[in-house]
Amino acid sequence: MDKDRKLIFAGNWKMNKTVAEALDLVHDLKLDLANVREVDIVVCPPFTALAEVSKSILDSSIRLGAQDMSEHNFGAYTGEIAAGMLKEFSTRYVILGHSERRQYQKETDALIAQKLLAAHSASLKPIVCVGETLAEREAGGTNSVLETQVNGCLAGLSKEQMEETIIAYEPVWAIGTGKTATAAQAQEAHAYLRGLVVELFDETVARRVRIQYGGSVKPSNARELMSQPDVDGALVGGASLEARSFADIIKNSI
Ligand code: 13P
Repeated sequence: MDKDRKLIFAGNWKMNKTVAEALDLVHDLKLDLANVREVDIVVCPPFTALAEVSKSILDSSIRLGAQDMSEHNFGAYTGEIAAGMLKEFSTRYVILGHSERRQYQKETDALIAQKLLAAHSASLKPIVCVGETLAEREAGGTNSVLETQVNGCLAGLSKEQMEETIIAYEPVWAIGTGKTATAAQAQEAHAYLRGLVVELFDETVARRVRIQYGGSVKPSNARELMSQPDVDGALVGGASLEARSFADIIKNSI
């Protein structure tokens, strides 16, 4: 596919997979994706499987991501995991501000902004999630929700940090519902998001920053979504839990 930006596909396994199941999955992914070099491929297992998955992917081009991290570097924060701890397993990416964390853990843009800075200071690449609910879309509020989230999460970054940040547009109504945004809806939101990056940073940064689409991505819809000019990859939930479907999403897109 003819795009300046390298596509990036990340599997967000959410709260799924024991260590043994995680190892089975990456074993199969390594076989299925052995010859794919033209895109970035990331798996984001639960924290408990990071250590073993990290070892298993050493001999492959698959990279490791985490699903969240603390905004603090260390200290009395029971249950939390710091960026430096993720780095011990050669973790390269971290998902931040997923809508499930915004909903269930009440994460705010201000908190996510702090986590972004902590990730960058540990040289982790954040995948920061934004997206509107169905009610917000139906009320015509998509753009203003995206603008609030982008300004709230990203305004404190330097240009260099922004270029190393991945934005994931995940309309909440498309997550785990089987309802995918149409390619046109995705393109419209991605183009709007890129425009917001121009306003906050500049044209060069906006041209370089990668914007993934997430929400019911499947092998059957990946190609059309990825062929949109401002869609630079996918953040995949359910379909990343099986090697065949995650690999097919990638192969159908390149
Ligand atoms: P689904 O692909 O299961 O809709 O999940 C998307 C998602 O939330 C990825 O972060």
